[in-house]
Amino acid sequence: MATSKRVLSGIQPSGQLHIGNYFGMMKRMIRYQEEHELFCFIVDYHALTTLNNRRELEENTLNAAIDFLALGLDPDQSIFWIQSDVPQVTELTWLLSTITGMGLLERATSYKDKTARGVSPNVGLFNYPILMAADILCFGGEIVPVGKDQKQHLEITRDIAQRFNKIYGDIFVIPQADINKSSQLIPGIDGQKMSKSYGNDIPLFVDEKIIRQKIMSITTDSTPIDKPKDRNSTIFQIFSLFLDGQEQQELAHRFDSPGLRYGDLKKELAESIIEYFKPFREKRIYLGKHLDYVQQVLKSGAQKAEVVANKFLTNARTAMGLNYSG
Ligand code: TRP
Repeated sequence: MATSKRVLSGIQPSGQLHIGNYFGMMKRMIRYQEEHELFCFIVDYHALTTLNNRRELEENTLNAAIDFLALGLDPDQSIFWIQSDVPQVTELTWLLSTITGMGLLERATSYKDKTARGVSPNVGLFNYPILMAADILCFGGEIVPVGKDQKQHLEITRDIAQRFNKIYGDIFVIPQADINKSSQLIPGIDGQKMSKSYGNDIPLFVDEKIIRQKIMSITTDSTPIDKPKDRNSTIFQIFSLFLDGQEQQELAHRFDSPGLRYGDLKKELAESIIEYFKPFREKRIYLGKHLDYVQQVLKSGAQKAEVVANKFLTNARTAMGLNYSG
């Protein structure tokens, strides 16, 4: 990305954010804000598809916003808001739903995965990808940093945008997914994809004791101490997230050499994680005591986002024949 682009992404307020969220998208979003125009939001409308509890939703949403700010999202360099503060996206969701084929959504693997895990499928869950498409198209997002699990949702968004433009004229920007090559699939402590709902996550801002406990319970194989260890193992992949290229090579060398004990490695990893997030943790405590500031940031972000949303929404309404009063 040589020239400045409009980079946009949202994150689900699913309780404690974890290192999968951080390395999957938050870290890149924060880095991009230096040279790109950043649009970033907390998707509480999406959260409603699986959470129906006022107190929990309010708490999770505010916490996700605080986490993002603590990790370095700069509200002076980016537009940062809570999704439901700009309700224009729900109108666009309706407009887009009228040109979206059932088959496109029926093929969505995330819906199938969630229902297979016992989530009761409400209509909102089925329509989830259209709301996500509206999130992106309503703001003209060009580049969308997401974890690998969102790849299909981005393809659906592109399909919807192309179909709309074909029927009604060139209204929407066709977005591109930005998926990090080096941390494509971030495993949890059991080796499955890291997810809060699988209970295998390593949260960003919990008590240090819990981080140590979680790391000590990472699944490892039973390779004897005097044999080389597996570089595809979960512990290697998680540790690598915290290392630069040179350090990763050193770790690979230690894995190839006999004598490495998983227990020692886990202790080192836990301390590295705690150290890595220490400055952010302090900022987080500070923000937690200055909620007025956080609220004011979110409010002014929503106002800026609304201006952009109104522009795209009005263009779509007019193109579809809904703008009678001008
Ligand atoms: N579905 C995304 C996730 O679970 C969150 C999301 C909602 C999103 N709207 C978005 C991501 C728009 C990028 C752009 O991670």
